[in-house]
Amino acid sequence: MGRIPDQIIQQIRERVDLVDLVGRFVTLKKAGRNYKGLCPFHGEKTPSFNVNPDRQAFYCFGCQEGGNAITFLMKIEGLSFPEAARALARERGIEIPETDGGERGLSERLFEANEVAQAAYRAALATPGNPALAYLERRGVDAASIERFGIGFAPDRWDFVAQRLREKGIPAELGERAGILAPRTSGGHYDRLRGRVTFPIRDTRGRILGFGGRALGPDQEPKYLNTPESPVFRKREAFYGFPFALDPIRRGERVVVVEGYFDLIALHRAGVEATLATCGTALSADHAQGLKRRSQQVVLFFDGDEAGQRAMERALQVLLPEGLRLSAALLPAGEDPDSILRVLGAEHLRKLVDEAVPALDRVMARAVERGRSTPVEKARAVAEVAPLLALIPSPVEMGAFARLLALRLDVDPQHVDAAVRAVKRGENPLDVIPIAPRRTGPEERILHEFALNLVHCPGLVREISSDDLDAALPSGAVREIVEALAAGDGRGTYLEAASERLSESARPLLWRLAAVEEAPDETVARRVVVETLAWFRKRRLAEKKRALTRQMHEPDADPAALLGEKQRQLDEERLLAKH
Ligand code: UTP
Ligand code: MN
Repeated sequence: MGRIPDQIIQQIRERVDLVDLVGRFVTLKKAGRNYKGLCPFHGEKTPSFNVNPDRQAFYCFGCQEGGNAITFLMKIEGLSFPEAARALARERGIEIPETDGGERGLSERLFEANEVAQAAYRAALATPGNPALAYLERRGVDAASIERFGIGFAPDRWDFVAQRLREKGIPAELGERAGILAPRTSGGHYDRLRGRVTFPIRDTRGRILGFGGRALGPDQEPKYLNTPESPVFRKREAFYGFPFALDPIRRGERVVVVEGYFDLIALHRAGVEATLATCGTALSADHAQGLKRRSQQVVLFFDGDEAGQRAMERALQVLLPEGLRLSAALLPAGEDPDSILRVLGAEHLRKLVDEAVPALDRVMARAVERGRSTPVEKARAVAEVAPLLALIPSPVEMGAFARLLALRLDVDPQHVDAAVRAVKRGENPLDVIPIAPRRTGPEERILHEFALNLVHCPGLVREISSDDLDAALPSGAVREIVEALAAGDGRGTYLEAASERLSESARPLLWRLAAVEEAPDETVARRVVVETLAWFRKRRLAEKKRALTRQMHEPDADPAALLGEKQRQLDEERLLAKH
């Protein structure tokens, strides 16, 4: 690459505003004459990154990075000095005389190939009667959105783009490196996105990194095909929608994250422009860094279905450690932002964003909804949420969420804390949460849960002594089932064998328990069995004690017999305490 004349560099320094440039990557706040923000070059929680508008210089007191607009762009985008200078010059309309004619940077040539493809896709979509335009119309994407987002069409031909590249003198190998062409086994290349609607994915400065391609019909697989990773398309950090979102994010101090191209366009149409979309990959730690540099508040707007909620929980795993304020929009099951816009309208969609609740609140509510009646259900809910709580950097915030969870589950907050500590030590939180019933519980459910574990792990029956059974379990269907299981060998057709031994009244329960979808885990099952038995024993002992006290106060009490009984109770209590 040719040398850039000093006078051009001088012009760049005069015409590019560093505060504006840095502001695209970092949220800056005025502090005296300077601006301050979180350093984009090292992880930090309190701002030590300074921009001086008078000197057009930046400096970070944390990592000692410093420089001017050109060096800032070099560092943040991994460019060479001439690449960064050219980029800024182009943006400010400064002409650089092409003295070189030699090798230009690979990135620039890839961007150029992508621009050629983009022009071709745009032209193809503008051709009357093409199927992509009809598709977009059907989906309610208006002309203004098509224009704004540069949506295009890759016709269903092998070499539509390949030919355009040839005409522009761009070698097919470069098209292949950019990902728009794919190699054919028979030699040569084909258009990777052929027969699809195309979405250009741009970086913060509007350069095309790659494309997303949406199938036109249900039989075209996969539904979305993106161009692959390339030297410029790093999927771990790319977002769809950057050029449109930067200003709105800065102004609103919040960024909305969605999962799809159409979702982002829907939010734009509803006036929520501070929106970014992931491009067919899960949110990564690099994505999290990119979000954090620009906003402290992130609204996750994922699909209302099970998959969308799981994706949100995965996103929390990378976002929570950053100490961001995270909220989640609540979508009806089966809907996404795009369908909400079409069915319920812009107003409704905006409201969903504005009424987003703390994301952890949402996760906890889901965990609680799945069941919180029995001790095992409570323990499961705590164990499910604890790994996320463990990621919250602020102990105060973590404590608040832990107490909220304890409250909703009606468990001791200390148990939630203990579970979080277990996760931090790399242990299974289920090992520290008591799953024995607490005080009075719904006895029938506790009994059924006890039986459920034995039905699915019949080997555990052997670990229960008949003494224990007699002393602990009330008579009834569950007791019958346990005895029936104990009489069998726990192998093969043990359920049928047990069923034979049961009375008409107990049999349906056996099969109901056998048919549950989620069979319990053996280690948890063992604890449920042991702790539930101990709980029942304690309860029956307490009942006997009360009975004894009553008898002692009766006029014809026999003190010697009662004392003997008292001794037996004390022995049993000691025995229980040892467990
Ligand atoms: P969805 O399946 O939820 O699609 O995938 P969508 O955005 O609602 O798409 P429409 O409305 O049916 O057109 C969400 C996102 O996951 C990625 C895409 O980025 C998509 O926008 N995805 C999905 C893929 O990369 N490949 C696929 O096959 C499907
Ligand atoms: Mn959709």
